[in-house]
Amino acid sequence: MSTTYKLDTSTSRANPTPQPMKRLTVPAIQRRKVEGVCAQPIVMLTAYTARTAQLLDAHCDMLLVGDSLGQVIYGLPSTVPVTLDMMCAHGAAVVRGSYHSVVVVDMPFGSYEASPEQAFASASRIMKETGAAAVKLEGGEAMAPTIAFLSARGIPVVGHVGLTPQAVNALGGYAARGRSDAEADKIVNDAKALDEAGAFAIVIEGVVEPIAIAATKAVTAPTIGIGASAQCDGQVLVTEDMLGMFERTARFVKRYETLADTIEKAAQQYAADVRDRSFPEAAQTYQPKS
Ligand code: KIV
Repeated sequence: MSTTYKLDTSTSRANPTPQPMKRLTVPAIQRRKVEGVCAQPIVMLTAYTARTAQLLDAHCDMLLVGDSLGQVIYGLPSTVPVTLDMMCAHGAAVVRGSYHSVVVVDMPFGSYEASPEQAFASASRIMKETGAAAVKLEGGEAMAPTIAFLSARGIPVVGHVGLTPQAVNALGGYAARGRSDAEADKIVNDAKALDEAGAFAIVIEGVVEPIAIAATKAVTAPTIGIGASAQCDGQVLVTEDMLGMFERTARFVKRYETLADTIEKAAQQYAADVRDRSFPEAAQTYQPKS
């Protein structure tokens, strides 16, 4: 898929003009896993802005507007303070910036746990205001009735088991899960419960590898691993982590770039140019027409 860019004179920004294409759908993602095998692994990355979505879209099957934007964009200490307003604003931007991927928006902490009805009100607001195709919510067996309620009412849901960051206060940190037999059994049972409830995909985060493999084999829905296993049916990473925007990341992050260094070097050079008046040059200034 190729994208051509033209300058939009009303915004003075280059906007992509997409080739005619059909956006991937939730059923198409579901159909990737046949009799327990996902021949074409699902590629998912997080996106919070229209521009990032434009750059990632052609390479991904799914874009996740993760509540990790709390830390990555807003500098919050965890995902707990993230609001529905934030998720709706960033979700809409990512839908505007994408043409190909299935966009999934995280339901923030406190917006769905009280009851299936509360979850429906929040999820329907997200879908109306953003145009996203699906929502994601965290939690195991306890969330199965909510997932069944939403799925039966036309809201596709991605589940999220294992390390669930919204529960950081209950879990006591972000350590990998599934090291004890009881915890391992719970993670596999949680995945099965979400699968039976109708989750169309399940994120498995921060679990010891054999448990991620067991959960993947135990469910019909595709699993999407993060800190889990290459044998999951797909993978997701926080884009800023894999681009090297942060000095410290979880062990499971593979850095494909070192963007923090690139940005710092550019800022340093810009500051030097401003201070010695070598910027702007003739090419960046307007002169009277002669
Ligand atoms: O919020 C997020 O970005 C996520 C992924 C890390 C799975 O939930």
